[in-house]
Amino acid sequence: MSSTSRSRSSRDVTRPNSLDGIISVPGDKSISHRSLILNAIAYGDALVQGLSGGDDVLSTMHCLQAMGVTIEPTGQAGSYSVIGRGPQLVEPSDILNAGNSGTSIRLLSGILAAQPFVSVITGDSSLRTRPMQRILDPLGQMGAQIMGRHENTLAPLVFRGGNLRGIEYDLPMASAQVKSAIMLAGLFASSETVIHQPALSRDHTERMLSAMGGKVKKDGLNLTVLPTELKAVNITVPGDISSASFWIVAGLCHPNAQIMVRGVGLNPSRTGIIDVLQDMRAGDALQLLNQRNEGGEPVADILVTSAELHGTEIGGDMIPRMLDEVPILAVAACFAIGDTVIRDAAELRVKESDRIATTVSELTRLGADIEATADGMIIHGRGPGEATLEGAECESHTDHRLAMSMAVAGLLANGKTTVHGALDASVSYTELWQDLDILKLSLIHI
Ligand code: S3P
Repeated sequence: MSSTSRSRSSRDVTRPNSLDGIISVPGDKSISHRSLILNAIAYGDALVQGLSGGDDVLSTMHCLQAMGVTIEPTGQAGSYSVIGRGPQLVEPSDILNAGNSGTSIRLLSGILAAQPFVSVITGDSSLRTRPMQRILDPLGQMGAQIMGRHENTLAPLVFRGGNLRGIEYDLPMASAQVKSAIMLAGLFASSETVIHQPALSRDHTERMLSAMGGKVKKDGLNLTVLPTELKAVNITVPGDISSASFWIVAGLCHPNAQIMVRGVGLNPSRTGIIDVLQDMRAGDALQLLNQRNEGGEPVADILVTSAELHGTEIGGDMIPRMLDEVPILAVAACFAIGDTVIRDAAELRVKESDRIATTVSELTRLGADIEATADGMIIHGRGPGEATLEGAECESHTDHRLAMSMAVAGLLANGKTTVHGALDASVSYTELWQDLDILKLSLIHI
């Protein structure tokens, strides 16, 4: 769906008497991107199942197809075959479009930097404002020739790739996208690449590279990547914990709720939201059932029921483990007893929107007592109750996680909430609004 039609859409949402049902969320967005990108540059064919159908992952798929990679649906929902080309892709005949997706442009840049051809990659109006110097700096040190708009800081980016050397690099921020771009470039370099991370960010690239025969050594927060050829692997993508978080918070904060989210990936670098909600005393109202291992990633079914949450303080190493969940956590914090303080989260300012500013402005429209700080926000929770939030008109700021957070706020608020830009949700969660209706209407009792 085009970003214009997404942002013109709006949906009304009201609080139902109960929220009740069983949901399967889309495949994890981060793992979906990587399953296509890594298999594309591997030798052999792979079957990817449970791929996210969100627009971001489709952007990655279309960019790879434009570089000669055959990726085809098998006929079963979410299932694709990827025919790996090995390290050599085909020069694209047109500009590559990463749409709204930071993961697409940054991870693909790691590969474009190494390809012996000219390529240009751009994105939508939001992506063209997001910082790219964080990848141009290390890739440039590796010998890549890259130019970007605005003194090499913004997309579109132009590559004349090839002939990379390994580097030792202190990552200035705990970003999995930047780390992954360097690791991918490191596969093509003439010598080893060492990355020092300031804190652990999601480690899906490391896990998948190892599963494909890539030589990646982990030593605490230090990573070493050796130039290697990859072997294609079949991947079953687990459900996205970032998408599940919307229903987890809806269930905990609605007074009469019972929601089961099936098959959610619980990689420890992603489960900060569960830890924080437990710290907010969710207790037995948030249960991980049927814990298992699927395709190298821990997975469980998550059962949530209504709870009384309490305010908390979040910062430091916890932030990279739940950065994408801060907007929906802010909704939960409105229904908690006492203040919630979020610190060390300045990276939120350079996401699909400035998520500190947009979360605060949109929840303020619904009457929340919330204030922005330089690197986070403070939410003065009112506790559970019918008048905690008051329905109002609000907007997504072309940010999928804002659209979905405000949908959940609307499920919990008194009166009607209108979410403008409602279909921006489809960047990561195409079925969000259908699933919301299932939970409102469901008569199934678990
Ligand atoms: C992602 C990394 C995170 C996250 C984004 C997905 C990834 O971004 O916010 O939604 O798949 O690597 P940063 O690496 O910029 O923190």
